[in-house]
Amino acid sequence: MSKKENKIERERQEAYIEKCRDYVSAFQSAHGRAPQASVVTFGCQMNARDSEKLSGILVQAGYELTDAEEAADFVLYNTCTVRDNANQRVYGRLGYLNSLKKKKPHLKIALCGCMMQEQSVIEKIRKSYRFVDLVFGTHNIFRFAELLSRMLASNDMIVDIWEETDKIVENLPVKRKYSYKSGVNIMFGCNNFCSYCIVPYVRGRERSREPKDILREIEALVEDGVSEVMLLGQNVNSYGKNLENPISFAQLLQEVEKIEGLRRIRFMTSHPKDLSDELIDVMRRSTKICRHLHLPLQAGSDRILEAMNRRYTKEQYLALVKKLKTAIPDIAITTDLIVGFPGETPEDVEETIDVVRKVQFDNAFTFIYSPRTGTPAAAMENQVPEKTVHEGFDKLLSVVQETAKERAALLQGKVMEALVEEVNEQDPAFVTGRLGNNMLVHFKADRRLVGKFVMVVLDTCHGFYYTGRMVDWLSETRHTRLGKMVDNQWLN
Ligand code: SAH
Ligand code: SF4
Ligand code: F3S
Repeated sequence: MSKKENKIERERQEAYIEKCRDYVSAFQSAHGRAPQASVVTFGCQMNARDSEKLSGILVQAGYELTDAEEAADFVLYNTCTVRDNANQRVYGRLGYLNSLKKKKPHLKIALCGCMMQEQSVIEKIRKSYRFVDLVFGTHNIFRFAELLSRMLASNDMIVDIWEETDKIVENLPVKRKYSYKSGVNIMFGCNNFCSYCIVPYVRGRERSREPKDILREIEALVEDGVSEVMLLGQNVNSYGKNLENPISFAQLLQEVEKIEGLRRIRFMTSHPKDLSDELIDVMRRSTKICRHLHLPLQAGSDRILEAMNRRYTKEQYLALVKKLKTAIPDIAITTDLIVGFPGETPEDVEETIDVVRKVQFDNAFTFIYSPRTGTPAAAMENQVPEKTVHEGFDKLLSVVQETAKERAALLQGKVMEALVEEVNEQDPAFVTGRLGNNMLVHFKADRRLVGKFVMVVLDTCHGFYYTGRMVDWLSETRHTRLGKMVDNQWLN
């Protein structure tokens, strides 16, 4: 979209935000308080980032945000449809919202996100969930202000779903969940069509943002107190290929690295087939890119990988991991695994287990295959019986947990830098910090350290997290033992 078109669309939406403000003022006069809005995220990091954009518009319109759905005057569900259980959660909670609305008739309910891009879902909502006020999809999310104002002026259900879009509207308002870290979309959509996956159908074709828009957004975030960004895309390794002036993801990372004041860079997700040597080299030399790579394997059997349309083999994946670990020895590698893809045998699952043992993933998200209507895999005849799937899943999960534990134990006793993320829910004297490798550590500290970087000794490994203590630099660096540990950490 040209700069001019972008400006016109943005101004259009700003005018609708003004219209919503009139409604909010009237609400305030009638109820003696601002209306409360609850935005609920059901999906991935990209879905969460969309929720921040939706929240930004609501805040500008005068709404107050709340996590308590029962207290809200407007509830917006930002849905996910990657696996069927995501859909079931939405339907279940809609039943609850219906009961709330019976007690509070002015409650407005809206649905958006990936699930709404499915025809069958829309039919079901029109038929069985008639109390919903507004339904929109992933492609017209930038029109939310307009849709909201239409909803506020109407008593009928409004459904507006687009088949696709080539638009990326920049500079709309955003309300971040965290003050110190933020997701940043670098691209939208996906062109890979893995045979089990619905994302390309509900998110459309791959579109990259202009590097200068991304850099400007990150600069503004840093100015606003953000020290860690996560660059988001379904396949970040193919970023920039279709831009008018093509640029590689590795080149983009180098530009992001130059932003002063930014301390940590993460990214999600890397498709193994597109991970370049250039990227490995940029990661190796970087002082800001976290030593963590999420590299979804999905399956270890070549036959299944081929049927999944992943376009790499087990050997190619293993060779890639070897290259990564040689270049960056302290890198943490995490992955996604699917059990029960059509035609998968217990022997195939053994191949996945073999890769888990060889790679020693630092963590792995293990999913049971969920057929998604419209994908090639859902139409395959050789669906695996549930019992076989569960047996394979349990076996894989135990190996995943075992190897992840072994990896985590290696860092016990080390001193590492943590970004303090939040006050511990169970004990407010403790905080939770995130290490560069994405692991969490709990330690005693003042809540005012939230959003700050501190050095922490990882005293005890509890499998998937550590408990530790903060290094008091002024007193403790004088102790040679700890001083040595710290030096070693930097030398390693
Ligand atoms: N773009 C990312 C992943 C997006 S979806 C990538 O390619 O890696 C996140 C994860 O959900 C996938 O990695 C996959 O493991 C899982 N997933 C996707 N479709 C699924 C399905 N139909 N059933 C079970 N798991 C699925
Ligand atoms: Fe889905 Fe594959 Fe695209 Fe990831 S790369 S979003 S798994 S189609
Ligand atoms: Fe994300 Fe779920 Fe959509 S994983 S892209 S929110 S289908």
